[in-house]
Amino acid sequence: MMNVSERLTRHARIIKDVDLRALFARDPKRGERLWLAFDNWRVDYSRHAVTDETLELLNQYAQTLDLNHWISALFSGERLNFTENRAALHTALRQPNDTPIMVDDKNIVEEIHAVKTTMRKFSEAIRIGLWKGATGKPFKTIVHIGTGGSYLGTRLICDALFQKGNMDVRFVANLDHHALDRALTGVDPESTLLVIASKTFTTEDILVNAKEACNRLAAAVRDVARVHSHHVIAVTANIKAAQDFGIPDKHILPIWPFIGGRFSLWSAVSISLALQSGYPVFEELLSGAHAMDEHVFNTPIEQNIAVQLALLDWWNSTFLARRERVLVPYAHTLGFLPEHVQQLMMESNGKRIDWYGKKLSANAPSTRPIFGGVGTTSQHTFFQWLHQGMHNAMLELIVPIAVNGHAQRIEMPAHALAQAESLMNGSDHLFAATYEPSSEETLRAARVCVGNTPSTVFLLPNLNAYHLGALLALYEHRTFIESILYRVNPFDQFGVELGKNLAPILKSAMMGQIKLDEEDTDSATLTAVDFVKKYWKG
Ligand code: F6P
Repeated sequence: MMNVSERLTRHARIIKDVDLRALFARDPKRGERLWLAFDNWRVDYSRHAVTDETLELLNQYAQTLDLNHWISALFSGERLNFTENRAALHTALRQPNDTPIMVDDKNIVEEIHAVKTTMRKFSEAIRIGLWKGATGKPFKTIVHIGTGGSYLGTRLICDALFQKGNMDVRFVANLDHHALDRALTGVDPESTLLVIASKTFTTEDILVNAKEACNRLAAAVRDVARVHSHHVIAVTANIKAAQDFGIPDKHILPIWPFIGGRFSLWSAVSISLALQSGYPVFEELLSGAHAMDEHVFNTPIEQNIAVQLALLDWWNSTFLARRERVLVPYAHTLGFLPEHVQQLMMESNGKRIDWYGKKLSANAPSTRPIFGGVGTTSQHTFFQWLHQGMHNAMLELIVPIAVNGHAQRIEMPAHALAQAESLMNGSDHLFAATYEPSSEETLRAARVCVGNTPSTVFLLPNLNAYHLGALLALYEHRTFIESILYRVNPFDQFGVELGKNLAPILKSAMMGQIKLDEEDTDSATLTAVDFVKKYWKG
């Protein structure tokens, strides 16, 4: 008797080559049935190579994994990040009640709520002009300095929730000085507040920018000490490093080792949202995320939107060899969603070793590459590739009908659905140039869109702070459930250390301070370092 995994494999051999159009021909009403609900959302996955039998097998397989145990372990603070011996308690950041969660004998919910109170106080004091700059001016501009998880999620929610009349928040993430130059262009240093967000307070990208930003402000407020005392909020898990940087304790907001960087937008890292839009908007975001947490924690796997979407991703990636994942939010304000999800999913599940130290097999990899861009703009960049390129992509479209209570232009959902429909149905798809075509046939062949590209379509009646919070929490839970399916640890990221540690050595070599060992350094690097030494005139 075959086990469910073997039955899934056999089923995939049948389904793998079925055309999506044939599935609709066989079951015309599937578009009315194959969708997931959360609140007033409709998440349509009918344009995927799944049948009722597929779903049955996927859910049977999920049952063998005891997902409820894993979800409970996540929420309760078990040390699931076993390589760093840490819990992953981003859900605790949005827990509204005082139910204790113990980490190392400390109730971290008390600490989290205390930090939220400070966030509220800081944002209110700054927004009403009680907390002023060193020369007595109220703040008008916030410059958030971070990178990766200390930047992307906060950038995304600030962009998505910006409303007229909000404070001006600018972001600096790249070590390239142009990023800082651009952010500080046109600001009044005396009314500019810096948010320096870094969990470790050791990331060079952030510290170089932070130091230079303080120096740029110092010129206007007399000295760096006054910048540190009046114009900086630091957000970090490394309090000592922030103190050594010169930030007074009262302006250091803590985050915790059990909060992963890419899961930290719910923490004080997002003080910039509270400063931009007011603390209540940040709270609304948290309440949406908590509603998704409740759904994931309490809903049986067959109706659990995070589990179902994770199973769908896993089915496409592992059994149907879908190699590329393309995320396109049809909302200008969600411009940073693809990059945030890219870090969330690829830094979490971009692994090759499983829980037991064993190498994953090539035909059952962990997460696939994810890229994307906003609609409709992306229709003028990579959609040609989607329609006529050689790929095995699957698409995910986020389609809000309104944003922050204001109706989208009707063209936005129209374009989104046109893409989902045409990428599945193609054109002249029965025409296949299987012989040497004449000029007429060549022309016709060049115009063929073969279709058969699967897509998931999120239809959201109104994307406000609450629903944005729920959507971003959903991506976190999908990432976690997928890590169980791939059997990898989603909470460490040792890979990022390699390049970070090498760069300072190459910098010293480029500055002529050290000579690289020609035995240990590849000739490509040696020649490139010489090239930089020749042309760099910094
Ligand atoms: O990209 C590597 C990384 O460590 C991310 O995981 C993290 O979000 C980012 O760099 C910034 O790290 P930190 O907040 O510690 O400066």
